[in-house]
Amino acid sequence: MSDAGELLTIAVDVVRGAADLVLAMRTEAIADVSTKSTRTDVVTAADRAAEAYVIDALRTRRPGDAVLGEESGEHSTAGTGTAGARREGMPEPASEAGRVRWILDPIDGTVNYLYGLPQYAVSLAAERDGLVVAGVVRNAATGEQWTAVRGGGAYRSGHRLACSAVTELSQTLVATGFGYAAARRAHQARVLAGLLPLVRDIRRFGAASLDLCFAAEGRFDAYFEKGLSAWDHAAGGLVAAEAGLVVSGLAGQPPGPDLVLAAPPGVYRQLHDALVAFDAAGGP
Ligand code: IPD
Ligand code: CA
Repeated sequence: MSDAGELLTIAVDVVRGAADLVLAMRTEAIADVSTKSTRTDVVTAADRAAEAYVIDALRTRRPGDAVLGEESGEHSTAGTGTAGARREGMPEPASEAGRVRWILDPIDGTVNYLYGLPQYAVSLAAERDGLVVAGVVRNAATGEQWTAVRGGGAYRSGHRLACSAVTELSQTLVATGFGYAAARRAHQARVLAGLLPLVRDIRRFGAASLDLCFAAEGRFDAYFEKGLSAWDHAAGGLVAAEAGLVVSGLAGQPPGPDLVLAAPPGVYRQLHDALVAFDAAGGP
């Protein structure tokens, strides 16, 4: 198995445990909700518990790797406790050059989780030297799971995924999402007002990682969003790219906080140019 394949095996194992925890905790977790950047940006006890579970599991399986988690920021998994100690037979910690960094969203779609909408996921990607090489997204509510290894294709339940073959913007079903700050939403609404008459329709499901996985299998054609963090799109972006979507920012930029666009090759340029015209990467 390739190095990235081994990282994926670990990721799948760890994410399954985290997703089970998220689902099992829902009743108690939604009674313990705090807010972050705005009053609509929520975090529950389950976000924190799932993040701690994943970090601890990675510390045991991959001592020396780094982790970036949405709720607790950057970590080294070297740790000092029992979980951080190296055990016989474990791999040596990676050198700085080839060091692995895990990128984790313990619950993507926390508002859906709060309301009981079955569209929330644990998302975990492995990045080596700044490049995402493996990723898994698991819908904790349904058990659906998407995986990808760089250069090895994207899969759900053993089936290799391919994005849509759409070639006309007017026939393109586009998903998007909105940030939590009012000023950003006002700008996103203006972009949407420009785009909506040009496309088949718009969808907003509430979990960026799942949006990218849905695009990977053609449940809609394309996806874009401004304001995403690495944990929202690292794993799903690899799934989408491995299914054939072009995943980028605007005007030659890589996908990032200004914009993540995932579009099938047949419609990428048309959608890209429309988003440039509506200044989708601009605004607050
Ligand atoms: C959010 C979801 C949502 C997207 C937001 C994200 P969270 O992540 O992915 O779909 O529109 O931009 O912040 O807060 O549920 O982890
Ligand atoms: Ca989250």
